[in-house]
Amino acid sequence: MQHFLTTESLTLDQLTAILDTAESFINADGSSVKKVPLLRGKTIVNLFFEASTRTRSTFELAAKRLSADILTMNIAASATVKGESLLDTLRNLEAMHVDMFVVRHQDSGAAEFLSQHISPGISVINAGDGRHAHPTQAMLDMFTIRRHKGAFDQLKVTIVGDLLHSRVARSQIHALRTLGAKEIRVVAPRTLMPTQLEGLGVDVYDSVESALSGTDVIITLRLQKERMQGALLPSEREYFQLFGLTSERVALAAKDAIVMHPGPINRGVEISSSVADGEQSVILQQVSYGIAVRMAVMSILAGQ
Ligand code: CP
Repeated sequence: MQHFLTTESLTLDQLTAILDTAESFINADGSSVKKVPLLRGKTIVNLFFEASTRTRSTFELAAKRLSADILTMNIAASATVKGESLLDTLRNLEAMHVDMFVVRHQDSGAAEFLSQHISPGISVINAGDGRHAHPTQAMLDMFTIRRHKGAFDQLKVTIVGDLLHSRVARSQIHALRTLGAKEIRVVAPRTLMPTQLEGLGVDVYDSVESALSGTDVIITLRLQKERMQGALLPSEREYFQLFGLTSERVALAAKDAIVMHPGPINRGVEISSSVADGEQSVILQQVSYGIAVRMAVMSILAGQ
């Protein structure tokens, strides 16, 4: 692998190698190891054209724990605001002898575009592009699921929420399919359900109660208001009444079901505080595991 752009093209062996490598970076208490010399001498640039808390910070921590030098660009204070193109920004950073770029961009395909124009030997990691893909988020989600549930082949996984705008859901579905999840259920208001999902091997539900019944893993998605054009929903209040993850709805799932959310969460919109902070929630563990999983992806790309 030179680049890490999507989970769609990855084989079971590649997905498993990432999960196993991430496991090697985890301490007995579930935290990630503090320092290993695997990427000493390498330079990594975090290039985030869109807001981020979790992904940007965990990539930075992961790079530091691998002993790499990492530069996180402040795009708002960069020459981009003076009209410099994405490609020219890349060329100038390349001239600083960078080994790896971690790219988040509001346009689908931006990371792939950069990977096609980058010099040989430099890697691009997609940290989220438009509605298209967020492969490291999907991998940390798979890692969280595997740590709690073991094998995937008996698992029923339900994804609830704004699937139309979700790059995370698309990446999760590809990874879950390849890892052999027994059932992948999706449920959303009709206006937030993409038409082509059934072709991806998921079961589409209309009722959130039916979709949650007996499920082992619940993944809730944020309403991506920044990507919505026009009124796709009557109101957030009505959305919460019909699709919000409440304790009553979680009780329909398997007793030991885990509740996940890629973050950021909107309390009282897609999830109640009692569920987000409840015993079945693994939302903050997902964030913690993000460090080890991103260490795994970066070390594999660097050939370590
Ligand atoms: N899940 C996720 O991508 O969060 P950030 O936008 O904070 O990185």
